[in-house]
Amino acid sequence: MNTIQDYLSSGAIDIAPLLSLVLNKTNVELVTHSNYPLTFLEKQTLDDFIKQRTNGTPFSYISGKKGFYHLDFNVTPDTLIPRPETELLIDIALDLFPKNYPCKLLDMGTGSGIIAVTLADKNPNWQVTATDYSSKALEVAKSNTTRTIEFLQGNWFDPVASQQFDLIISNPPYIEEGDAYLDDLTYEPISALTAGKDGLDDIRTIINQAPNYLSKSGFLLLEHGYDQQAKIVELLSIKFTNIQKFKDYNNMDRSILAQKK
Ligand SMILES: C[S@@+](CC[C@H](N)C(=O)[O-])C[C@H]1O[C@@H](n2cnc3c(N)ncnc32)[C@H](O)[C@@H]1O
Repeated sequence: MNTIQDYLSSGAIDIAPLLSLVLNKTNVELVTHSNYPLTFLEKQTLDDFIKQRTNGTPFSYISGKKGFYHLDFNVTPDTLIPRPETELLIDIALDLFPKNYPCKLLDMGTGSGIIAVTLADKNPNWQVTATDYSSKALEVAKSNTTRTIEFLQGNWFDPVASQQFDLIISNPPYIEEGDAYLDDLTYEPISALTAGKDGLDDIRTIINQAPNYLSKSGFLLLEHGYDQQAKIVELLSIKFTNIQKFKDYNNMDRSILAQKK
């Protein structure tokens, strides 16, 4: 196998994006330069990437990049790969406040920083804080920053003790321990995925503690599993009002917004 065309016809998984990555060519250029013979080093890199992809490494961990909303994010095996359904949280947050309102935002469990960085980039006058338990994830989030964001390491609300926010957002771990779906996610950090027997351990902690860290009538916005909404409404109804439920673009229950009573 020598030319782009030889590789394109090989049937290897994600071969076109892998060729684009190695050769720095667009899809159109791959076709218009299909007779291009790869150099020894290009072949070596591509064969290594094909092997990784065949063994199940997600494409984003090979490329080190994933698009989210209007930006491209660095990702590593220390961070969850951003999911398109999380863009729903951005749409909901952008609709909450009048234009130019100087919202004080906390993004908890920021991972690669997608929520904090996207909202800070869209709203330069927002004051944004982002936290994560994983210091390695925070390093990745910092590398993605386009505006000033305060990054803090620690367990949920520990790093922001005594602060209050207009909006707290989290896409926390919410998969049940032992869920068969985890077999497909072995390359991503387990600490970003699971939260106890019913997947709600972290969501319970966040809902219980959030009122102490929200300003008067402040908002809590959470992503959750497709079958967890009813239970979360029950948890929220103790200290929150104006509970609004949202479905993702696949029509699955996916996020919930509530206002402090
Ligand atoms: C589902 S991932 C979400 C990452 C990112 N916000 C996103 O939407 O792609 C959950 C994140 O919560 C972090 N996390 C897990 N337990 C935590 C804890 N006890 N305190 C703070 N962050 C935690 C993980 O490190 C991970 O980055």
